[in-house]
Amino acid sequence: MVNRCICHNVPFATVAAMARDGRSLAEISQQTNCGMGCGLCRPYLWVVLTTGATNVPVLSPSQAAQLSSKVDPLLPKPKGKKQP
Ligand code: FES
Repeated sequence: MVNRCICHNVPFATVAAMARDGRSLAEISQQTNCGMGCGLCRPYLWVVLTTGATNVPVLSPSQAAQLSSKVDPLLPKPKGKKQP
């Protein structure tokens, strides 16, 4: 099971609570940095936000890629990277 953003030590329970309080994923990410490191938690964030689950089974590579394509446009752009 996956239950947090490892890079920034943000439990998915915190993400779910912030979402229940009405914050967008972009706001949650800006406030916690969740999803702004290696990016491995990004597909899990989609599961957290759409199901409320805070312990998510490990996703297959194809599942992770599919969900990342949904969540990536909702997150802030990483700082310091130039956009094409
Ligand atoms: S695990 Fe969340 S950004 Fe790396």
